[in-house]
Amino acid sequence: MKRAYDFFHMQIENGSTSLQVAEHAIPTSVGVGGKDFERSYGRAYFNVENRIDDPAVFQREYETFAQESLEHGRRRHVFRARMSEEVTESAIGAGLPVEMALPLSLIDSSTRDHVVIVADDIISASVPEWEKIYPFWKNPFGKEISYDTMTRAVDHGATQFSLVNHPEERDIEALTKLWWAFGWSRDQVAGYVKQGIYRTHTAWFSGVRDRTTDTLVAVSIGEQLQLSGVDIVESTEWATAAGYEGRGLCQASATGLIAQILHDTEYAGKGTPLLMGEFNMASRADVVARAVGMTVPYVEGVHNLESTPRQVLRQNVSVLDHRAPNIRPSFMSLDQTVREQFREAYRMPYQYLRNFLVGMLPKSRIDSLYTKNAVETLLSLYQ
Ligand SMILES: CC(C)(COP(=O)(O)OP(=O)(O)OC[C@H]1O[C@@H](n2cnc3c(N)ncnc32)[C@H](O)[C@@H]1OP(=O)(O)O)[C@@H](O)C(=O)NCCC(=O)NCCS
Repeated sequence: MKRAYDFFHMQIENGSTSLQVAEHAIPTSVGVGGKDFERSYGRAYFNVENRIDDPAVFQREYETFAQESLEHGRRRHVFRARMSEEVTESAIGAGLPVEMALPLSLIDSSTRDHVVIVADDIISASVPEWEKIYPFWKNPFGKEISYDTMTRAVDHGATQFSLVNHPEERDIEALTKLWWAFGWSRDQVAGYVKQGIYRTHTAWFSGVRDRTTDTLVAVSIGEQLQLSGVDIVESTEWATAAGYEGRGLCQASATGLIAQILHDTEYAGKGTPLLMGEFNMASRADVVARAVGMTVPYVEGVHNLESTPRQVLRQNVSVLDHRAPNIRPSFMSLDQTVREQFREAYRMPYQYLRNFLVGMLPKSRIDSLYTKNAVETLLSLYQ
């Protein structure tokens, strides 16, 4: 960690950091295949396209990438791959920072492979949220999860709210406000709306419109990435407008999004996707995820993890979520100039780099909550 920090400091002193964020590129959460050293928030990302079944290959690929990330002056590197069980266990056993390991057996009983993220930051991160979040996931969920509870806020025109599966140009202002929290500019939102990316059956949009003001007040989107035979679909950019929180709107939006995704994958004969999400722990998006049927493997119902945060992506991206900033003693001990340069380089206040709990939708929940009939009924709620 120290070596990584020294390297970063040296780059700043040399004036050789090239940490520009493309102004108009549309942000992506799931990313593209291969290496990307220009990801937002100072990250380097490597979506490894081939399955890794040899620990030596993993070690070589990972170490090379981690070094390249430093040479590019990146704050954080994220290495994501499909790995055999043996390689997954060897990475954990070697004490590498395995932040996420999702077992594909939860969607396909014929494999023991995992989709794994090994990631590290130049500034080490603690997970203070774990104290609250772990008991929530260790213990049984106290609420009923059903089609009705998931969509209580919307129905066929009887309520103030309706679901929409694509944004209109008139929604650009409202979407810009909603996604400001994730660093989207107005131009990026306009590009997203005009390019109609969500109409491709590999990208999805789910919004809740307030009929009384004709305004989008809650949204979520889905993005797909094929990674060595796994259809990864990330549900992301969940946001509810100020004044509308706590009314079940994110839950309704995310439920409808999942139905759209399953309609185009599971029920289109393309197999079960790895439908996953990264949930901002500061805003408790994980509560919403659980309410729409997601699980956090190796955490839900598992005991004795009080001092072992699992499935947490640390300081992954910034979310301006109106919650308290994270105070990081390790960061505060750095000298003022470096702190300012770090902040300048990554553009978003580092105090809002959030920890994210990772979850996924298991096949068992698709079979109980998102049957073909339920999906069709959910899709009929869209206007
Ligand atoms: C996270 C966010 C999208 C939740 O939106 P929301 O519309 O308020 O969520 P919902 O009302 O659908 O919540 C569904 C359930 O989760 C619970 N929940 C939501 N936020 C919660 C919180 N902070 N603490 C505890 N429970 C919470 C709700 O009480 C509700 O449970 P209920 O059915 O028993 O009432 C919203 O707070 C937000 O936009 N935050 C800022 C951006 C952000 O962090 N997005 C997440 C990125 S991963």
